[in-house]
Amino acid sequence: GKVAVLMGGTSAERPISLMSGSGVLAALQSQGVDAHGFDPAERELVELKQQGFNRVFIALHGRHGEDGSVQGALELLGIPYTGSGVMASAIAMDKVMTKRLWLAEGLPTPRYVLLGADDQQRERVIQVPDQLGLPVFVKPPHEGSSIGVSKVEGYSQMQAAVALAARYDAEVLCEEFIDGEELTCPVIGEGASARALPVVRIKPPAAGYDYQNKYFTDEVKYLVPSGLPAVEEAEIQRLTLAAYRSLGCRGWGRADLMVRASDRKPFLLEMNTSPGMTGHSLVPMSARAAGISYEQLCVQLLATAAL
Ligand code: DAL
Ligand code: MG
Repeated sequence: GKVAVLMGGTSAERPISLMSGSGVLAALQSQGVDAHGFDPAERELVELKQQGFNRVFIALHGRHGEDGSVQGALELLGIPYTGSGVMASAIAMDKVMTKRLWLAEGLPTPRYVLLGADDQQRERVIQVPDQLGLPVFVKPPHEGSSIGVSKVEGYSQMQAAVALAARYDAEVLCEEFIDGEELTCPVIGEGASARALPVVRIKPPAAGYDYQNKYFTDEVKYLVPSGLPAVEEAEIQRLTLAAYRSLGCRGWGRADLMVRASDRKPFLLEMNTSPGMTGHSLVPMSARAAGISYEQLCVQLLATAAL
């Protein structure tokens, strides 16, 4: 049957989604799949039904793509789609809801302070470093690709960082900085049959692992296989699977983590339910290390499409 690759969309991550989607589309077509690109920013989703599409590969990122809304529309249209369902997508798109759930499950995640729309005046904002230390990360809770994120090194930068994050979300997440290394771990599958792929270790330049360095430079070094001791790799994978299952994820996903340098303790940062599939993206990198080509990965993910 006909497959639609949803790409583009209206979120701040639209440019990234267009890169992910064109990669997925070309890969599926090269494997003989009758796949077509479909941009929900330009067409109504109901056209999927009218035009006889019977499966959807979601290559959208961010709001109205990764947050359960498109998933809900596809449920109503009765068209199977890749990735998590409505609830897991909605929770995972919200970094604070995700943390609350993980904390309730006893899963480690950095300490945080949530500044509501009424808590963003100077007196309140400069208390945050007293609570969480410095540096501190300031993030919009519902964005991806590091959009709107600042690493704040001093009190004087707090207000500007909160204002930047508040351009994307009414509430602002302030998160304890974990001094150590950044890791990511993909998962494919569902429930008991979900399996973790190899851990990728991210070695950013001094400027950090930001939007620019994620996609548009070759400044970041990636280690996969990770070179971590086998017990540590296994622990990261175990934690990732627990995090994935706790959110009720399905199809695929990718946990981002930090490992603290001082004691090698891992912390979960977030779960991405529609991870990047660009030439710089991490799931394809990890899959390759597991012997799965980009084309094979796309076909495998498409096979998980469900309602
Ligand atoms: N939000 C981007 C697409 C990622 O996590 O890969
Ligand atoms: Mg993300």
